[in-house]
Amino acid sequence: MAKVISGKEVSAKVRADVKEECERLKEKGVTPGLAVIIVGDDPASRVYVNNKKKACAEVGFVSEEYALPAETTQEELLDLIDKLNNKKEINGILCQLPLPKHLDEKAVINAISPYKDVDAFHPSNVGKIMIGDYHFLPCTPAGVMELIHFAGIDVSGKNCVVIGRSNIVGKPMSMLLLHENGTVTVCHSKTKNLKEICSSADILVAAVGRAKFVKADMVKEGAVVLDVGINRDENGKLCGDVDYAEVEPKASYITPVPGGVGPMTIAMLMKNTLKAAKLQNGMDD
Ligand code: GUN
Repeated sequence: MAKVISGKEVSAKVRADVKEECERLKEKGVTPGLAVIIVGDDPASRVYVNNKKKACAEVGFVSEEYALPAETTQEELLDLIDKLNNKKEINGILCQLPLPKHLDEKAVINAISPYKDVDAFHPSNVGKIMIGDYHFLPCTPAGVMELIHFAGIDVSGKNCVVIGRSNIVGKPMSMLLLHENGTVTVCHSKTKNLKEICSSADILVAAVGRAKFVKADMVKEGAVVLDVGINRDENGKLCGDVDYAEVEPKASYITPVPGGVGPMTIAMLMKNTLKAAKLQNGMDD
């Protein structure tokens, strides 16, 4: 039976630490501020944005929501970002993805000041992560690492397999595991012998975006299994990329969905926003 790593518990600890540090910052006259931009009315994005705003209020940050209509032009969106880049009270800017098809996501990411890029999506921040010299880590992979650390798992020398190669999760995830001396393999839709590669993993990170994709025969006995997926199963119930019922008996540690990696993403966003506020006010440690 696997030990369950609770993202609920770990994220609450991270948020409590951020809240405490936020109080200290406020005594020095600095209140961290996060601007969240949402374009259009994607229901999943709406839920994520609401949760981000709620987390800000809970830790004592100011948050500003910019809800723009789906027909917003590229120029209007870039104008808003420019305004927020120059707004002193705003330390972090997050533009919720995906954007409506007519908008150029890359140009939008490029327009956000790297100093306020609390998603760590800007090419300059991505480059910094690559060389291991960064201020901001992308929230989801950073959240996975926090769970690994909390469980006391040593990555060094372990076979780590990441399923998925997105810019947001898979690629930076592989880099963070590599920084901790894991031997990392990244699998994707063109990977041959996926089952065999996954079965060699001491640490398996599933970031495929397909409900219950990882089955028991893809998992080594005693593996650590981290599930980044948020999907709906055939009954409309929330589930991960891992078939939890099948895999749990084989794993040594596993993260549930919901209550695993999901809550960590927002906690790490709070951590990045706090860091941005400190950096912009010359208080970085
Ligand atoms: N859409 C899905 N995940 C994310 C995220 O971490 N940040 C942003 N900005 N959009 C997302």
